[in-house]
Amino acid sequence: MTLAEAIDNQRALFLGAGILLLSIIFQLWRSSSSRRSSPLPLPPGSYGLPFFGETLQFLYTQRRNLSWTFVDDRVSVYGEIFKTRSHCSFLKSCRVNKSAQSFLEENWHGRSEVKAFPLLKRFMFGIACELLMSRYNRQEQEMLEEPFSTMVHGQMQLPIRLPGTRYSKAITAANLLHSQFQLWIEERKRDLASGKGLPDDMLSCLLTYVRENGRPLSDEDIKDNILLMLFAGHDTSTLVTALALRYLALNPDIFDAVYRENKEILEEKGHDKPLSWADIQKMKLSWRVVQETLRLQPPSQGSFRKVIQTFEYNGFRIPNAWKLYWSVNSTHRNAKYFEEPDKFDPSRFEGAGPAPYTFVPFGGGARMCPGNEFARMVIMVLLHHIVIHFSWTLVDPHEIITVDPLPFPAKGLPINLVPRYV
Ligand code: HEM
Repeated sequence: MTLAEAIDNQRALFLGAGILLLSIIFQLWRSSSSRRSSPLPLPPGSYGLPFFGETLQFLYTQRRNLSWTFVDDRVSVYGEIFKTRSHCSFLKSCRVNKSAQSFLEENWHGRSEVKAFPLLKRFMFGIACELLMSRYNRQEQEMLEEPFSTMVHGQMQLPIRLPGTRYSKAITAANLLHSQFQLWIEERKRDLASGKGLPDDMLSCLLTYVRENGRPLSDEDIKDNILLMLFAGHDTSTLVTALALRYLALNPDIFDAVYRENKEILEEKGHDKPLSWADIQKMKLSWRVVQETLRLQPPSQGSFRKVIQTFEYNGFRIPNAWKLYWSVNSTHRNAKYFEEPDKFDPSRFEGAGPAPYTFVPFGGGARMCPGNEFARMVIMVLLHHIVIHFSWTLVDPHEIITVDPLPFPAKGLPINLVPRYV
């Protein structure tokens, strides 16, 4: 499916449910055959307004970073499984050490205040451009930033394709990105044909990949994959790093302990060596801080599955062809699995940690996020360099976290920096 088709895939309906997942999206066209074949009732709930369904309520809670209340409110009325309707569309080293150091040198050192979120975003976007397409040139990266951001902000919108709507702008921006990627694909194909060595990046992998049927991927597939990874790979890690900085500032004792942990690792490995994967694994408390950040503010608030066979859940029939939406937040904020769920407490990840499938920021099962280890590496390397060189306080400790379509600090997380002399 192309990106534009993905944007057009607007006829999803929303159902919610508690506990495990808990919310379900299904297609407008409900399968009448499966309805006849089962005596079980459909889940209770409301489809909301004609056409709009309950989209506006869903988006309202998203914007206020309260998406789980959309589910919880309905769970309290209908029980753990319910139906609703919504028209949201979803589009679908070492080098990092060096980049992290020069990023801090250029943007943080010598400053007493920075807006952390946009800077981290730029860093993560740059890393993604480098690793996916070997685009190291800052100007080229900047050229992609704006259309990319327009595309992302038009993702979860009412699918109204009128000039000026965010949705329509997102489609134009996605097409623009596709055109640029097409030029780079052609350039890379020419290099391949002329026997030039290819850079070791995702674009080369996709271009040389051969399917089971012996055919290469189409250009459309390649462009969609790059765009998907650019999206999946940088906004998520940006958010987690930014919010980890926020939680550290709000919890000075944990912040001190994290600093001591990183300092010890630095001294053990030597100042001039890059952080290795083995070093990252020693960052136990720092990782627990990141995990707790992922629990409280999962960048991906949920994900979809399509029902391929009618099944029963909690005494209800879930028909074939419905779309399921499982909500990460509803699980992470469930007091049954996490005591005092709203409290920032990295110690809950000590020892065996949470029960299986209760901590699911990267999803689970066959479609679990394939970038989770990479994300861990990038976040931990960057966090290490920041913690080693700076301490910080929040300019606004009450800054709101909003969601559009991923959570982010509304003011860009301004922080006061105090350099540490390493
Ligand atoms: C903190 C960072 C990240 C978080 C929280 C995150 C979270 C997720 C989640 C929840 C899913 C859906 C899983 C499911 O449906 O079961 C997903 C899918 C995916 N993620 Fe990530 N992700 C992160 C970073 C990355 C990175 C760095 C990459 C790539 C460079 C990446 C690539 C993908 C891809 C390609 C998918 C689709 C997998 C599929 O459908 O089979 N993600 N991610």
